[in-house]
Amino acid sequence: MEQNQAIHPDMHVGEIAAALAGATAIFRKHKIDFCCGGNVPIGEALAKKNLDAGLVLGELQALAAKPPEAPSETIALIEHIIRRYHDVHRSELPELVKLAKRVEAVHRDHADVPAGLADILETALEDLGDHMQKEELILFPAMRGGMVGMVDGPISAMREDHDDHALTIRALQEITHGYQPPAGACRSWQALYRGVDKLVTDLTEHMHLENNVLFPRFESR
Ligand SMILES: [Fe+2]
Ligand SMILES: [Fe+2]
Repeated sequence: MEQNQAIHPDMHVGEIAAALAGATAIFRKHKIDFCCGGNVPIGEALAKKNLDAGLVLGELQALAAKPPEAPSETIALIEHIIRRYHDVHRSELPELVKLAKRVEAVHRDHADVPAGLADILETALEDLGDHMQKEELILFPAMRGGMVGMVDGPISAMREDHDDHALTIRALQEITHGYQPPAGACRSWQALYRGVDKLVTDLTEHMHLENNVLFPRFESR
């Protein structure tokens, strides 16, 4: 679909997310899965969640005149993914691990303590680190070299990793009760959940740009 094109209920969620800059924020707001469950028509996704189709389609339509947030040219898009997502995950995740360890230790007797959050974040740091390194050392250089249709194997391996990341996101959402600290939570606890929410937002957008925008340009089918 093109920018400025009318949004129809039979367009797939992933297709809209890929083509319409900012659509992912609307999908997140309404808790519509655009990343790994985006292969359904938007009308169906809205009906399933009892959402007002007119309202949500209207919000999407209003976006359609805006310029995209990520560069459309492939080399610039890869650079954007590395600087805006890979580098940001690498700088923020270690801090979140430390913060989670502190909150879990200080509030170990609190009924709502997110016991196990630091472990999930530590595993995510390791898995995501390996994954991003594979993209940067193998896949992205091949893409910069214009190897269209010759990197199906690495791309499908990266898509499988993304499915694992989606499971991590679900675990993070669950253990933090949708990033909602309990009433009276200290500043550290609040900062921790804000940070995890941001990590999930970034990671979702990051995987979307790869799954729905970058990878299809190189897949042979
Ligand atoms: Fe990536
Ligand atoms: Fe990736």
